[in-house]
Amino acid sequence: METIISGLKSGNIPCHVAIIMDGNGRWAQRQGLERSAGHVRGVDTVRQITEIASQLGVGYLTLYAFSTENWNRPQKEVDILMDLIVTAIERETPDLIKNNVRLALIGDTSRMPGFAVERLNRCIQDTSGSTGLTLCLAISYSSRWELTEAVRQIASEVREGTLNPDQIHAETIIAHLATRNMPDPDLLIRTGGDMRVSNFLLWQIAYSEIYVTDTFWPDFSQLDFCNAVAHFQKRERRFGLTGEQVRKS
Ligand code: FPP
Repeated sequence: METIISGLKSGNIPCHVAIIMDGNGRWAQRQGLERSAGHVRGVDTVRQITEIASQLGVGYLTLYAFSTENWNRPQKEVDILMDLIVTAIERETPDLIKNNVRLALIGDTSRMPGFAVERLNRCIQDTSGSTGLTLCLAISYSSRWELTEAVRQIASEVREGTLNPDQIHAETIIAHLATRNMPDPDLLIRTGGDMRVSNFLLWQIAYSEIYVTDTFWPDFSQLDFCNAVAHFQKRERRFGLTGEQVRKS
């Protein structure tokens, strides 16, 4: 593993990796287990992937832990997921601090149970001094929620007279997104094989490289993450320019 890590580090490490962690339910069903067993194993994967991302020098790791649409799952599964996330974060806080990892949260906290918001905020506070990897959890998050909130805020600033509609640019919108303090993802990984973006960071992934693997999230290993980064390093990012322009710059 050390050789793989140092090989990757001699290339371009993505500053921000975003992951759609899919396939927990299918992983569990395949083993004849309850869906929740897949989520439990998924937490172990979160730990492993946070560790390797930190070792590689990734700046931001955003994980889609719970979508706005996930509120419509059976109440029992919603409760289990919320509890798992909060318990894992609380348990891991000392290790996050030790490894210089800072926790961040994006999503509609108004829909989350009070105990969960309180405990996540405590971890955000406790890890606020870390200067290494930012682990950003997207919980009760969807892009349509985020963009709707941004539009609402911009409209109210216009109504109050603090913002002139002629002065609304892409930067204005970026400044009103939940991710305003983060760069856009360089690499978007989706496990579980589905070719969709599922209402995740729709504005921010405009120029992200996309890597989809059939591997279910509980089976996604540190080596799989390295593989995704290796694929990223082989891609030529053109940002709308020609290949020739990019190679000259
Ligand atoms: C998708 O699998 C996964 C989720 C909805 C939840 C992911 C959450 C975790 C792995 C826990 C995160 C924990 C921390 C600490 C951040 P699915 O249930 O949709 O799988 P399926 O597509 O096979 O049904």
